[in-house]
Amino acid sequence: MSMEIRQIEDAHYVKSYARKPISIVRGSGVLVYDAEGREYVDCSGGYGTCIVGHAHPRVAQAISTQSKRLISCHGSTFNDARAELLSKLLEITPKGLNRFFLSNSGAEAVECAIKLARKATGRRKIVAIRGGYHGKTYGALSATWDSKYRKNFEPLVPEFQHIPFGNAEAAKEMIAADTAAVLFEPIQGESGVRVPERDWLPLLQDLAQESGALLISDEIQSGFGRTGKMFACQHWEVTPDIICMGKGIASGLPIGITASIDELAETLAVGEHTTTFGGNPVVCAAASATIEVLLEEGLVENAACVGGYMKAQLLSLQKEFSIIREVRGLGLMLGAELRFDVHAIIQAALEKGVLMLDAGRNVLRFLPPLCIRESEVDEVTQVLRYTLEKEELARLPS
Ligand SMILES: Cc1ncc(COP(=O)(O)O)c(C=O)c1O
Repeated sequence: MSMEIRQIEDAHYVKSYARKPISIVRGSGVLVYDAEGREYVDCSGGYGTCIVGHAHPRVAQAISTQSKRLISCHGSTFNDARAELLSKLLEITPKGLNRFFLSNSGAEAVECAIKLARKATGRRKIVAIRGGYHGKTYGALSATWDSKYRKNFEPLVPEFQHIPFGNAEAAKEMIAADTAAVLFEPIQGESGVRVPERDWLPLLQDLAQESGALLISDEIQSGFGRTGKMFACQHWEVTPDIICMGKGIASGLPIGITASIDELAETLAVGEHTTTFGGNPVVCAAASATIEVLLEEGLVENAACVGGYMKAQLLSLQKEFSIIREVRGLGLMLGAELRFDVHAIIQAALEKGVLMLDAGRNVLRFLPPLCIRESEVDEVTQVLRYTLEKEELARLPS
């Protein structure tokens, strides 16, 4: 069965995804199952989209109920499922961010933020951060740093500049009276789970305020409780003008959200920024159910608590294995930087029933569902210990 699935996808799906040799057909909580019924602990959390656990019954029920009532409803008419989601979003987003654009992906949430910033300020320059990842559509790609994503698609959108992560001098120089927005990930995910020093984000906030630029926090990976607070920028007590969200809000259904302060969003004229599927009622119902589960099951607190436990386990592995250079992250957005390419480890862990992500060549990344328990973390730790031992042995001089 797995082979059949792979053969069809290999023959007919785009080849732009780095594939793992596994066909996932079912999921429940932290676990996923392949076509042969083999179980895996999903530390990739469906690439961070699965925050309340796979196929959560409350979310499945909400999707089922809504799909029997109304599946399609364009933003040009009002809709109850959309209104319910907006009310729920208001409860969890930082005060003042009370106007939302609903779209279909993280990259689209970023596109909207960039357009809002340019329209509202009348300025063009977007200052982003080296190492940042914001998606692969043209505006978002222009803010994304890594040249491997950019180089074959130039020219990109003009007037994007990148400052080195954590470099205060460069930030002071670059964020100026011509800057429309400063766009950052509070914790850089794709480039290796990089957590900034205490002063970095407050500095970006101060510089943006002084120069009249807008502050945009891309919380597509770090938001919705993943780091142990609802939004990662809250760890630094930074309040952005715009927050971009995506990934797990609708438990895996496609969604992007751009939350902004009212005065900014009001600058958009009718028709200037819309999308056919944005605010789709089924997706909205899934997102409302996801937020309810997140709050009722205390998953933000669980991310802080079990995330702390998982980080401690990774740090203890670091003591055992010198091939781990550094362990970093907050809550359940964790990374372990190794001294070599991690792909053999990811493959070996997969064979032992644990699904993990990379972040660049050297970093193992963990974005498990926020409902993961300590006992499941223990299983992951055991598998990691086994794979690291194997790798260390393989690297001993013969
Ligand atoms: C921080 C961040 N921004 C933007 C994106 C792009 O989101 P999408 O892949 O849904 O377009 C991602 C995706 O990984 C991300 O991690």
